[in-house]
Amino acid sequence: MIDRHRMASPRARAGRSLLLSCLLLLSACADDDGAARRRALGDRPGLDAALRVADPHRGGRLFGQCAACHTIGPGAGDRNGPNLFGVMNKPIASNSPRYGYTAALSALGGTWTPEAMDRWLADPAKVAPGTRMHFSGLADPLDRADVIAYLQSQSAGSASRQ
Ligand code: HEC
Repeated sequence: MIDRHRMASPRARAGRSLLLSCLLLLSACADDDGAARRRALGDRPGLDAALRVADPHRGGRLFGQCAACHTIGPGAGDRNGPNLFGVMNKPIASNSPRYGYTAALSALGGTWTPEAMDRWLADPAKVAPGTRMHFSGLADPLDRADVIAYLQSQSAGSASRQ
């Protein structure tokens, strides 16, 4: 039998590897919106599964939606909402000591575990009726996981802070 690969001219081989690089590049770009990860996770991924493949860089881009009301730099001031540097695993309604939290949020108790943050980001008004965070929420579980991974990366203990 003829081995087609060995028969291929160097030019054909170069063409093939160029094609492969283009395809890889395309699939990387296509995953910019998480499409490949979403396909792999299915329609209703659990939080753990979504966090395992979470992308903090994409989460940072999604944070653009939060940035109108929140700063995230260490020691940065509050806006309409409190500064969020290092908020993960902190007691709820405590991240910025100078910020005037609503009773609705303060009364929740507990800490910002990934589970609590996931519920909050899905629908703040449902978690704390009367909250001043007027944000309709992130409906997509992967978007929430990416934002949570980004919040985790923006803390004093995180090596991947940028
Ligand atoms: C329209 C303004 C606005 C937007 C947009 C917004 N927030 Fe908020 N956020 C607030 C306000 C106001 C509070 C304080 C809520 C309260 O006291 O009831 C808050 C509180 C929070 C808290 C609690 C902090 C603590 O110390 O306990 C977290 C976490 C948070 N927001 C995350 C986010 C993230 C992540 C996004 C984007 C996906 C976002 N917020 C979008 C206004 C906003």
